[in-house]
Amino acid sequence: MSPLHVTRTLPEDATQAALRADVLHGLTATPKSLPPKWFYDARGSELFERITELPEYYPTRAEREILLARAGEIAAACRARTLVELGSGSARKTRHLIDSLTSLEAYVPVDVSESALTRAGRALIGERPGLRVHALIADFTAPLALPGTPGPRLLAFLGGTIGNLLPAERARFLASVRSLLAPGDGLLLGTDLVKDERVLVRAYDDAAGVTAAFNKNVLAVVDRELGADFDPDAFDHVARWDAEREWIEMRLRARTAQSVKVPALDLAVDFAAGEELRTEVSAKFRKEGVSAEVAAAGFAFGHWWTDAQGRFALSLSVAR
Ligand code: AVJ
Repeated sequence: MSPLHVTRTLPEDATQAALRADVLHGLTATPKSLPPKWFYDARGSELFERITELPEYYPTRAEREILLARAGEIAAACRARTLVELGSGSARKTRHLIDSLTSLEAYVPVDVSESALTRAGRALIGERPGLRVHALIADFTAPLALPGTPGPRLLAFLGGTIGNLLPAERARFLASVRSLLAPGDGLLLGTDLVKDERVLVRAYDDAAGVTAAFNKNVLAVVDRELGADFDPDAFDHVARWDAEREWIEMRLRARTAQSVKVPALDLAVDFAAGEELRTEVSAKFRKEGVSAEVAAAGFAFGHWWTDAQGRFALSLSVAR
């Protein structure tokens, strides 16, 4: 039997149904918004990979620096036999951690992208024979069931993606993560940190325009999947720092008044000239906030590591 198991928890049509519900809800609301998870079709995932290599987009490099420096400490602190990774994607960022976890018997990558999961799983099995890879095709913002692999478990949620959730969603998410774990299991969380506004805005509005293309790609997804007639060129990319809520918002601003048809929803959506559609919130954190949020979800906040420039943090907390 192959050591790569793939479990699909999403029905084949669940993605379409969820997209329809999100688009209907978001485009009929005031102000208009779309959830960021719909950026990541094949082109969006490729654009995101390019973002991670931009000089302005520091989070990926900063997190990699921490993982490289601290993987040994992380492994020693949790001695995990199972590593669960939410939003694993290509699993590139975790490779070094996996190598350091010498007691590891099972790796459970969770992602909505089946192709990314199987590619990453096969590559890993080639390098770590004996490691069981049990990939879960799942939306980690929905309730999840983990396979019965041995504890202790370490659940990793990296990249700062938790910042895409609004505070109330974060509290619910962390509580549901806690409910998947047993006392003593670990939570490894990557969080981007509050810093100079110019550095933050540049990271989300790069000179080469890759983030602008990534942002507009969500319109192409809605066009393709729901037959809509969004013209991505009729919108401008906007990245703004909300100093009060300490998050970056990406928006798409209509250049002119326009009406967009979404045939699959039997919907026409009117935009005023200059009207903005929010496509992403990317919250930035402080140590006190992260420790309070994980504590409220039932974890004992433990280690806190940042990169040398203090831009990004990895924290390791233990389920109580
Ligand atoms: C993948 C969610 C961590 O919020 O920084 C990158 C996505 N958006 N540039 C982030 C993103 C615009 C990214 N995360």
